[in-house]
Amino acid sequence: MKVVLTLDELRSAKSDLLSPLGLVPTMGFLHEGHLSLVKQAKVECKSVGVSIFVNPTQFGEGEDLEAYPRDLPRDLRLLEEEGVDLVWVPTIEDVYPTDSQTWVVVEELTKRLEGEQRPGHFRGVTTVVTKLFNAFQTDRAYFGQKDAQQALVIQRMVKDLLLPIEIVVCPIVREEDGLAMSSRNAYLNPEQRRAAIVLHHALGDAAERFKNGERDAGVLRRSMLAVIQDEPLARVQYVSVADPDTLEEAQGEIQRALLSMAVYLGDTRLIDNEMLGID
Ligand code: PAJ
Repeated sequence: MKVVLTLDELRSAKSDLLSPLGLVPTMGFLHEGHLSLVKQAKVECKSVGVSIFVNPTQFGEGEDLEAYPRDLPRDLRLLEEEGVDLVWVPTIEDVYPTDSQTWVVVEELTKRLEGEQRPGHFRGVTTVVTKLFNAFQTDRAYFGQKDAQQALVIQRMVKDLLLPIEIVVCPIVREEDGLAMSSRNAYLNPEQRRAAIVLHHALGDAAERFKNGERDAGVLRRSMLAVIQDEPLARVQYVSVADPDTLEEAQGEIQRALLSMAVYLGDTRLIDNEMLGID
């Protein structure tokens, strides 16, 4: 496995790789969720690249940029074990040349859910992902359904900008008790960790109601809210039953929906989601 730091090194290392190339963009502090993307890329591609970069432009003011967990030696060990070919760990200057003033913005899809709560977040994500795509000139790129809106926004961007890249979205990997894996779970103290399962319970409860015939978006939304409000350590930021294509909040009867939520446990903000009515 080759580990490179500069853009020049990346470009010359890339020429040794076989096509198709699959890229897994990450912010590091890797867990089984990230590794599931790598494994999928390994199955489908002749070579696999990974980027590790905590992208400052997707963090808002007062968010956890400085505190974001990092462990590069461990990340590299895990990626080596997975048989990754090339890892890029860029510096800020490589990704954002001095006086950078070019941004990539997906307009409508980013106005809701995460975009509404984290202004500027998706502008940072789409900009850095475009740069990573350009740097790697990848054939495929792998994203997790854990960040459902991010996956949708990236798919929209690739279509809109005519990028010759196939986006593959992989299922959410969960801990044994159902908590979606996340680098931010490391912030939770033991009590919060126990309480964090409430996101999965709320989604599971609504999914069960849907399976049993409940189709009213309002009822499903309120049922998720009630489950979360039953957990004293949890504070809801939003709970959503949305159209899975446009992310508009659903009203009345639904056939398909993206259930999603952001919930605070102490200062830690966790997100989770589940698709209804889609195989
Ligand atoms: P990061 O949070 O490190 O996640 C990297 C990729 O791993 C994302 O596509 C994310 O959806 C996926 N992922 C995280 N947890 C997962 C889980 N439990 N199951 C399945 N996939 C999971 O998302 C980012 O970084 C950044 O926004 C990035 C795309 C790298 C741009 O900076």
